[in-house]
Amino acid sequence: MSVKQSLIELPLDLDQQRIPAHVAVIMDGNGRWAKNRGFPRIIGHQKGVDALKDLLRCCDDWGIKVLTAYAFSTENWGRPAHEVEFLMTLFERVLRRELEEMMTENVKIRFIGDLTVLPSSLQAQISHSMEKTANNKGIQFNIATNYGSRQEILHACHAIASLVKDNQIQLDDINEELFENHLYTNGLVNPDLLIRTSGEMRLSNFLLWQMAYGEIYVTQTLWPDFNREQFHQALLDYQMRDRRFGKLN
Ligand code: IPE
Ligand code: IPE
Ligand code: MG
Repeated sequence: MSVKQSLIELPLDLDQQRIPAHVAVIMDGNGRWAKNRGFPRIIGHQKGVDALKDLLRCCDDWGIKVLTAYAFSTENWGRPAHEVEFLMTLFERVLRRELEEMMTENVKIRFIGDLTVLPSSLQAQISHSMEKTANNKGIQFNIATNYGSRQEILHACHAIASLVKDNQIQLDDINEELFENHLYTNGLVNPDLLIRTSGEMRLSNFLLWQMAYGEIYVTQTLWPDFNREQFHQALLDYQMRDRRFGKLN
């Protein structure tokens, strides 16, 4: 079996057997990063895209199978209109610009969240990128856009309730597996590690169900400054954790 060239780049102090299958990231601190430099907040968002690109590549290099990034929450609509508009345009522009490279790198893209209320040109670009990369066999890259866990859970409840109402399933058929199959993350393993940048100790409505037993790592680093070295530190910390899942060792 050929060793994937890039796995050779895995830092020697990381255990290849204990690399998380799924890493999720709350990319927080773009605004503060910009403010610290006297720039408008949107410059921070622009810089944040580069940090995400680097992380995606690093995850791929180090054998992580799934990366999920929180790009826009259901609560972020409450920001000033010009910031929201900038972000929507940025998502579309980046997606268009990066699609070919992601094809080359075999990345499979999926958007999670309620996409139906996004600008129609962004929705079209999202559909195009998901369809185009659907058969790629490399890293699974999920972008949470207009994502909120509570909305996701309610959405699943509605879907399941209609199945019951239409007699397609019985009440007793509702279990964890069926419920998970109705979340936006259906078919994916739950995150092993969630990283949040910029020091905030909260989930901000991200993957509430899926993170029931995920490990959380918070760094003070602001998102645009998050790099391979920081990610290395997060993985070292993760590999020290004793994941008991409620049991005893
Ligand atoms: C995260 O950075 C990006 C989005 C929420 C879109 P912020 O914009 O929240 O940056 P801070 O937290 O204000 O510094
Ligand atoms: C979480 O960051 C959402 C994203 C990173 C997309 P926020 O900046 O919106 O979260 P709060 O307001 O600090 O909880
Ligand atoms: Mg923030």
